[in-house]
Amino acid sequence: MSTIHENKLVAVITGGNSGVGLTTAERLLDLHDGQGIEICLVCRNKTRAEAAQNSLLKYKPTATVDIVLIDTSSIASVIKGAKELRLKYKHIDLLYLNAGAIFVRRGINWSHMMNEIFDSDTPGQKILHMFTTGEGLLLQTDKITQEGLQQVFATNLFGHFVLVQELKPLLGHESPSQVIWTSSRASIKSSFNINDIQHKKGQDPYGSSKFGIDVMSMALNTRLNNQKVYSHTCCPGLVLTNLTNEIFPMWIWYILLPFFLLMRIFVSNFNMTPYNGSESLVWISQQEPEKLDPVTRYESNTSFLGKRYVTQRKLPIESTTCDQLFEECESMYKKFKDGQPLDE
Ligand SMILES: NC(=O)c1ccc[n+]([C@@H]2O[C@H](COP(=O)([O-])OP(=O)(O)OC[C@H]3O[C@@H](n4cnc5c(N)ncnc54)[C@H](OP(=O)(O)O)[C@@H]3O)[C@@H](O)[C@H]2O)c1
Repeated sequence: MSTIHENKLVAVITGGNSGVGLTTAERLLDLHDGQGIEICLVCRNKTRAEAAQNSLLKYKPTATVDIVLIDTSSIASVIKGAKELRLKYKHIDLLYLNAGAIFVRRGINWSHMMNEIFDSDTPGQKILHMFTTGEGLLLQTDKITQEGLQQVFATNLFGHFVLVQELKPLLGHESPSQVIWTSSRASIKSSFNINDIQHKKGQDPYGSSKFGIDVMSMALNTRLNNQKVYSHTCCPGLVLTNLTNEIFPMWIWYILLPFFLLMRIFVSNFNMTPYNGSESLVWISQQEPEKLDPVTRYESNTSFLGKRYVTQRKLPIESTTCDQLFEECESMYKKFKDGQPLDE
């Protein structure tokens, strides 16, 4: 229990063992000088979690870094891990919902890309749009979890929704809590279908799940602001991590690196390093949450000269979509708890 560290903030980070999540943990320790914050890495793999914990403790030997094992694609695992978190902590100040997965058949969807460019009246803008959002560029696949859910939806969105529901007693009340979702510029409204929230029928499970995250964040604000829980979404931009390694092997990214660095003249979200990418995740934690805009995604950027900054993007989301998604997820969650099948 965190009773011995009563005056410390508690930050829980899913996907905290690598990439943007691990760097966020490191930067939070820096900001609070290693002492004023307790970090909990929520990870699915014990070995990788312990390696991350050791690297953080090597960096700040006086820090408190805990581990809770959760596979966000498994609802049973989320419920079990949330119970452990409830036993460990009295309050969570920062809940980073950052774990994410994409399954890509290696390579680019060249035919789609060419059709889109040649069909466009403004091919230059279309190319820029495709490279900054990834829309239509990747040939994606998906898997089915043991509980019968689409894996990308379960990992990125639904598992995190369940985690918030299970952690409600630790969020807000006396002092505010921030729920900070790692979304993406690849959050594509047209990929999301409220009648197919798991994206069983579409070609872009990742874009759909990330749009679902933006929608869910707004839905949580409507329901939880009165409990002093504030939800926001952010985008780390393009960052070279294990996730991008799913798309191309790292050596290809390194060959392309000079191109991306040069392109920063035109495109500010080619952040490339987890440190640059974590800018918006860390920045949000430093703001007064009630003053942030709930209909905005906060995005990490890096200038050509390497200066990090955060920009806001207004989200094209209707409140009816928020209500529908929330109710659908709530109904699936209740069914799971009642031992009923999880079909939508
Ligand atoms: N990299 C980019 O260009 C980019 C751009 C936009 C948004 N994002 C988002 O940024 C977030 C962090 O990704 P990253 O780029 O830092 O990649 P990363 O290093 O691969 O981090 C992803 C993290 O999520 C964890 N994870 C994946 N599936 C999980 C599951 N079922 N249960 C629990 N944890 C799981 C991974 O754990 P394991 O180590 O065990 O796999 C890892 O810790 C993701 O939400 C991603 O969608 C990334």
